[in-house]
Amino acid sequence: MIKNALLNNLLKCKSPDELIEAGSVSGLKKTLNVFDLIIIGIGAVVGTGIFTIIGSAIQGGVDSLGAGPAVVLSMLLAAAASVFSALSYAEISAMIPVAGSAYTYTYATMGEFMAWMVGWILMLEYAIGNITVASAWTGYFVQFLKGFKHILPAWVINCPLWLRNDYRTMYAMCDKFGWDIHTKMPFINTPDWFSNITRISEIPFAVNLPAIFIVLVLTLLLIKGVKESTKFASIMVAVNLFIIISFILVGSFYVCPENWHPFMPNGFDGVFMGAFVIFFAYIGFDAISTAAEETKNPQRDLPIAILGTLIICTLLYVLAALVLTGILPCHAIDTQAPLAHAMRCIGKDWYAGLISVGALCALTTVLLIYQLGTTRILFAMSRDNFLPKSLNAVHKKFRTPHIMTWLSGIIVIVCALFMDLNVSAELCNFGTFTSFIIICLTVLILRKTEPERKRPFKVPFCPLFPILGILTCALLMYCKFRSNSDSSLYFLLWLFIGLSIYAGYGYRNKRQNEN
Ligand code: ALA
Repeated sequence: MIKNALLNNLLKCKSPDELIEAGSVSGLKKTLNVFDLIIIGIGAVVGTGIFTIIGSAIQGGVDSLGAGPAVVLSMLLAAAASVFSALSYAEISAMIPVAGSAYTYTYATMGEFMAWMVGWILMLEYAIGNITVASAWTGYFVQFLKGFKHILPAWVINCPLWLRNDYRTMYAMCDKFGWDIHTKMPFINTPDWFSNITRISEIPFAVNLPAIFIVLVLTLLLIKGVKESTKFASIMVAVNLFIIISFILVGSFYVCPENWHPFMPNGFDGVFMGAFVIFFAYIGFDAISTAAEETKNPQRDLPIAILGTLIICTLLYVLAALVLTGILPCHAIDTQAPLAHAMRCIGKDWYAGLISVGALCALTTVLLIYQLGTTRILFAMSRDNFLPKSLNAVHKKFRTPHIMTWLSGIIVIVCALFMDLNVSAELCNFGTFTSFIIICLTVLILRKTEPERKRPFKVPFCPLFPILGILTCALLMYCKFRSNSDSSLYFLLWLFIGLSIYAGYGYRNKRQNEN
């Protein structure tokens, strides 16, 4: 009897009508149109992936093989995984246009327990993904400062490592250069007081100051209001599109086709590993669906925005990758700032500086949109009583979920202290692949359970396309699991923590609220 009640609760679904109704009384302003959504989409998609992570996808890392020039194939593979899921996203988000993305859709199909788990996994995509972007932001910010070496003091230009890295990266660097983190670290050209304050009460520490600064600024901006934020995003998106297109145009004159040989230095293993890593560059278009409740005409605008974003980005990525691998041999491509470095190698220093500015714009936009996404998902989860209700208070003047916005900012700031760029990117990819699989499954389930419901947009060739989406995502995840990377371990740990929170708080709180 108790067993049955438990099972019933775990599998309890919300009807799509109930979700839509809850969404319509949320108090969020409906201000976004299709242009705003595409701006949100491109802003969330173009960023760290193309500006930073492309270097690791080409070269490989500690526990992954590089794709070499075949990164273009990796990109197409990652795009294929994304496109099937994008179509599924489009069908569902137009059908159930409410905040919460895959979380909400899972609630309508697989019940309460799976919904919580998906919400928890989405935190990997949005909050943990933001850590990657914030770390990459610091990297480009430092590059940017170096452009002012004649004006700024040396201690700013050579900003100490402990002020611009997480703890893990700090340790890795000390290891690499043979420094002892527990004693004074040698910083070139910096005053002694800098070197001496790397410890608080004898504990060595590192703090990624630029990352914290930018997250704080964006948190305040988001609290002020989503419309203001997308206006800001559109300027940023225009700048970074200009940078990538001009990189393609300028770089194409310096391409040496010999650099494309060997095309697949690590065979198909390299291509698959590269696809897992570069998938990060595609994440983000689903952020569009998290803004559904703030969209004026979601039925028409969401599908157009999702597909439009994906097509524009794939085109830009493939061209940029061809140019990058054509300019330099793979082993010479930088992993911190590959595009800027490539320009420096062909003697275009001023242009390398411009790319750093463009990258900062792109990363700032991604950070903004990811924080928006984190907030909206937390908002939906707290509305459903998985989290304390008091967290989803809407600001009286700005009508934004201000407590949640602070919460999402603080999560990033705290995690950025000890998580590094590559691990957070891979963890984010695991989370996103999982949510994509769930979305494709949701389409299949809803086609069976709600065949009559109005679908302003339908995935073509269903069930083939959703099934292909599930298979491509699962294949890329499997490739990473096979390499026994740290991130696969952390992913399992993340699932376990989510399960424990649900068992210890979410389930009970939900039942109390029902009573
Ligand atoms: N696609 C986003 C980026 O590359 C997450 O930064």
